[in-house]
Amino acid sequence: MSLKDFSIGSFHDVFLQVIADIRSDDRYFALAAFFIAFNPIYWNIVGRLEYKTHFITKILGSKKRGCYLFAFSIFTLGLVRDYYFHKAIGNQVTSKILDSDLVKLIGLVISGIGQVLVLTSMYKLGVTGTYLGDHFGILMDHRVTSFPFNVSDNPMYQGSTLTFLGTSLYYGKAAGLFLTLLVNFMYTIALKFEEPFTAMVYAKRGEQKANKDK
Ligand SMILES: *[C@@H]1O[C@H](CO)[C@@H](O)[C@H](O)[C@H]1NC(C)=O
Repeated sequence: MSLKDFSIGSFHDVFLQVIADIRSDDRYFALAAFFIAFNPIYWNIVGRLEYKTHFITKILGSKKRGCYLFAFSIFTLGLVRDYYFHKAIGNQVTSKILDSDLVKLIGLVISGIGQVLVLTSMYKLGVTGTYLGDHFGILMDHRVTSFPFNVSDNPMYQGSTLTFLGTSLYYGKAAGLFLTLLVNFMYTIALKFEEPFTAMVYAKRGEQKANKDK
């Protein structure tokens, strides 16, 4: 691959070539796509149900234990998704156009940035902050504004998306790029539900505090 491959005229051809490399009839590709779509739907629906009925808290007898179990289920589903993603891209052909040391290097750097965002935001938020503790009534004392939250509004989601992107580039797999778009799409939708919810829960606490202080 050289720079002249990226002249405006050939950009369309490059796009079509990459699309043509996707083997969408592969079973692992379908499973990866399924879990990428299913996971955020799962944690939003179960999270809302917990908020409304506290059924997990009731079963486990404490909201902290409930949230840890929920966190474990989300984490495990994430591992399943990542497993199928790696299986899926392993079964795909490597795109000629992506098969270069430069693309590999860019992929490594992007995955590295993604992992830093994911790990540091987990570290800052803790288990209950990362895994929908607000749906259990476990709120953070203060909004975290330090790194990585000073460089990204949603470092967990953006970091995860970057990790998928970087891995796809590193292995030169068009199907990985397609799945990365799906990840991004699902997180965008998830945020449309989660951001207003979190704002509402914290606003409610603010009101309660204000009433207490009166
Ligand atoms: C974010 O915080 C880190 C460390 O706390 C700091 O090094 C970095 O410059 C900050 N970035 C921005 C864009 O403010």
